[in-house]
Amino acid sequence: MRPGCPALERLADAIDHHLSGVSGEAAAIAEVRGALARFRAAAPDRTLAAGSSSPICGHLDAALALAARQSGETLLADIRAALPFLAWITYNAYPADEIGPLFPAQHAFASLAAPYDATYELDFDLGLLLIAPHTLYRDHRHQAAELYLPLTGPSRWRFGIGAAWETRAAGEPVWNPPQKLHATLVEDVPLLCLYAWTRDVHLPAELVPATDWLAIEADLVAQAS
Ligand SMILES: [Fe+2]
Repeated sequence: MRPGCPALERLADAIDHHLSGVSGEAAAIAEVRGALARFRAAAPDRTLAAGSSSPICGHLDAALALAARQSGETLLADIRAALPFLAWITYNAYPADEIGPLFPAQHAFASLAAPYDATYELDFDLGLLLIAPHTLYRDHRHQAAELYLPLTGPSRWRFGIGAAWETRAAGEPVWNPPQKLHATLVEDVPLLCLYAWTRDVHLPAELVPATDWLAIEADLVAQAS
């Protein structure tokens, strides 16, 4: 059996432990932890994909420092130890004219599953998502059921075009069942969160247009300058 990467294994242990202490969305948390356990049982024989890169959006150090204060130094120590083995990339499934010019450069994610399962044959993904301050992640949906667990906050979320924005603090989970519409508004502090897609990870997300995107983004750009 090929050994895994100890730092990634420790981080997976730490995330599982962290999830066990989350309040709310108990069924979703159980689904994610079960999917993680199945993935880890299947993954150790796999060759680890090499690769490490920094997030294009920046703000990682500030996000990690804030997350340590808001979500605990224990988890953050394991995240920091795993950084040399994480490749931060951007989600590029959206047409450029739909996602707009801002979001592609203002987010990055790093999968913990991909180093073991680069083509996602095991149909599971879990990792870290980072969104820079003053960013709108436009309304979108996907077939994959999705958990977000913010490690920093506050961030704002809405679950429908025209719906009111809801505030989430660090530690308050967001669960998106398949095809649930959601958008994320990151204002003054970077958003670092855990994400998990429990199945259907090959099916791409799609944007659903809202008439307020450009106005929100103009406000965010003004706040940032
Ligand atoms: Fe999503």
